[in-house]
Amino acid sequence: MITDIVIGLQHGDEGKGKVTHHLLKSGEYTHCVRFNGGCNAGHTIIHNGKKFVTHHIPAGVFFGVTSVIGNGCVVDPVKLQEEIDYLESHGIPVRQNLRIASNAHVITEQHKAEDGVDEKIGTTRTGNGPAYRDKYARTGLRACDVPSLVPFVVNIYEELKGDNVILMEGAQGFWLDPDWGDYPYVTSSHTGTAAAIQNGISPRSIRNVWGIIKAYETYVGKRNFQPEDKIFDRIQEAGQEFGATTGRVRQCNWLNVDEIHQAIHMNGVNRLVVNKMDVLRKVGAWGTTEGPFYGERHFRIFLQEEFGPRVGIDKIYFSDNPATINEENPLTAAA
Ligand code: IMP
Ligand code: MG
Repeated sequence: MITDIVIGLQHGDEGKGKVTHHLLKSGEYTHCVRFNGGCNAGHTIIHNGKKFVTHHIPAGVFFGVTSVIGNGCVVDPVKLQEEIDYLESHGIPVRQNLRIASNAHVITEQHKAEDGVDEKIGTTRTGNGPAYRDKYARTGLRACDVPSLVPFVVNIYEELKGDNVILMEGAQGFWLDPDWGDYPYVTSSHTGTAAAIQNGISPRSIRNVWGIIKAYETYVGKRNFQPEDKIFDRIQEAGQEFGATTGRVRQCNWLNVDEIHQAIHMNGVNRLVVNKMDVLRKVGAWGTTEGPFYGERHFRIFLQEEFGPRVGIDKIYFSDNPATINEENPLTAAA
C-alpha cells in the first residue's frame, strides 16, 4: 500500500478537488478515497474543459479509478443518487467505480431537517452535524443498513489492503477541524492526516501529504472573519468567492502564516500548493497577516522561504488557473 493524502490547510475551499483531479492524471492510483465529511463539501473540478461540482463522490470517477466513500464520511442517499445521475448524464461513469464503506454513517431526512434551521454556526445545512452526533451517540444508521446503498457497500479494509496506490481526497480544512478550529465554528468531522488514515490506511504507507492553500483566506459561516477594509471585498469579487454548496458569500482575509505553519507541522505536509495566485494578481495587492508585500515576486519568495525545507516541505507549487496546478516553481522562475 502506498498512500498520498490531499488536505486543506485553511477553512475549506482551498482547491483540493482541483489538485486531486490533477494528481489522478498520473494514472498510477488504484483508488481515490473521500475520508471525511459529507455533502457539505463542494469540490469544483474542471474535466476536459467542463466544470463540475462534486459533493460526495471522489474525483477518481473522472478517470475510471475505483472511488471509495470512506468510513470517516457521512452519506446522504438522496443527494448521492442525484450526484450519480448528474455525473452520468454528463458522460462520467460512476456506478461501476463507486464503493461505500459499509461502516460509513448515513444522513437521514431528520438530520437534514434539524441542521436546516441552524442559525448559530452557519452550517451548510446538509445534516452533517446531526449525523456525526448520532454516530458517536451510537444511535446512527450505517451504509450497510440502507438498501439503496447496499449495492455499493464494501469492507474498506479488504478493498484497500494489498498492492494498491491510494489517493485520499480530503474535505473542508484543518481550521474547521472540531479540535483545532475556532470551536464551535467548526465542522463535525476531523479534517487532517489523522482522519485520512482512520479509513483503513496504514500510517506507514504514507508517501506524500499534499497541503492545499489559497493565496489568501476565505471562510463561510457565522463567525466574524473579514476585517473592515474594501480590499477584501475586491478579493471576494475577483476570486468569485461564493460557496460551491450553498452559494453564500465567503468572507476573506490575508493569508494566516501562523495557522499554515501549525497545519503543516501537525499534518506532516511535504508538498504545498498555493492556489488562486491570479486573484491577487488581478487585485494588485499582496499580503499576509505579517504585513503587505511589494508584489508577486516578493510574496512568492517569502512563502518559499517560510514554507520550505526548514518545515519539511520539499516542493511548493503556485497555481493561477482553475483547471490545474503548474509545474513546480523553482525560486528563480518567480515572476
Ligand atoms: P457543516 O460542516 O455543514 O456542519 O458546517 C460547519 C462549518 O463548516 C460552517 O462554517 C460551514 O460553512 C463550514 N464548511 C463545511 N463544509 C465546508 C466546505 O466544504 N468548504 C467550506 N466550508 C465548509
Ligand atoms: Mg468547496
